[in-house]
Amino acid sequence: MIANVSQSHMGLAGHIAVEDQLFMPVQGRIVKIQPQTALEKLFTIELPDGMSLGHRPGQFVEVSVLGVGEAPISISSSPSRSNGAFELCVRKVGDVTNALHNLQVGDWVGIRGPFGRGFPYEKFRGKDVLFAPGGLGLAPLRSLINQVIDERAMFGRVIILYGARNPAELLFKDELAMWAERPDVELLVTVDRADETWTGNIGVITTLFRKISINPRNTIGATCGPPVMYRFVLMEFSGKGISEGNIYLSLERKMKCGVGKCGHCQINNVYACQTGPVFPYSEIKGLEEAL
Ligand SMILES: Cc1cc2nc3c(=O)[nH]c(=O)nc-3n(C[C@H](O)[C@H](O)[C@H](O)COP(=O)(O)OP(=O)(O)OC[C@H]3O[C@@H](n4cnc5c(N)ncnc54)[C@H](O)[C@@H]3O)c2cc1C
Ligand code: FES
Repeated sequence: MIANVSQSHMGLAGHIAVEDQLFMPVQGRIVKIQPQTALEKLFTIELPDGMSLGHRPGQFVEVSVLGVGEAPISISSSPSRSNGAFELCVRKVGDVTNALHNLQVGDWVGIRGPFGRGFPYEKFRGKDVLFAPGGLGLAPLRSLINQVIDERAMFGRVIILYGARNPAELLFKDELAMWAERPDVELLVTVDRADETWTGNIGVITTLFRKISINPRNTIGATCGPPVMYRFVLMEFSGKGISEGNIYLSLERKMKCGVGKCGHCQINNVYACQTGPVFPYSEIKGLEEAL
């Protein structure tokens, strides 16, 4: 028996996973592939027999390609838009992710999960939410952003500050355009380096914080991005007066099992795959190796 059959293990089809199911992938079929940038593709995946993934924003799955290996990938689609399928935005960086990029619609992948602790978005209801994704960090935050947009009346202001290295690396451009058009979403985008097509903000993501004012007592901050970004974005959240318990970040660590068995993702005494990948800042601030 698993010592902790927690919500994080409430997985496929809503069944409580037993030990075998944690390690045994279910076959998922790729039903759509949308190139996003030169390095990222968005995969839409269906599970057999109309199974539902049953995830919450911020959780991840372990995706496997037969004969190559397995990689943890955040679920990028919102549970509110599941329609019997879910989306993964994958950057090709190595063996598994390159193999995924070589697959076609109709091909199969192995799926374990969903794993980890997602965003406690129910607690965000009634609050303003300030999202600050950087680069590929928009992939997991998009799940939460769309969940919030789909329950728009339940939240206060929705502010999204998104930064990418250059215009060609911006993800989900169609969705950015849709968010920009909504009167109830405040979206600011910046790039570190512009090109001739770019007429928007130039500078790192922290420069966008200067352009907004918030009510810190009623605001939740949520961020995900490259590790180098965290220290600066956390300083901006704190500088705006948001309390550490109201700042959430998704921490990536090298992961293997995804279920608290192998120790690959250990940060001091915490397994990021189980206790995270989403943490309130107040919880990890004291962990030496966390940031
Ligand atoms: C919780 C979580 C969520 C993630 N979500 C996404 C996502 O939504 N989209 C996405 O594209 N990627 C995501 N990643 C990163 C992804 O898991 C790695 O890029 C992937 O495992 C690399 O596997 P590979 O076999 O292609 O590369 P490998 O051949 O294993 O390695 C390629 C290079 O990447 C490094 N690397 C491998 N794994 C990681 C890792 N976890 N973090 C940092 N460096 C790593 C290796 O050291 C090596 O330098 C996530 C990781 C975690 C832990
Ligand atoms: S990935 Fe194995 S313990 Fe976290």
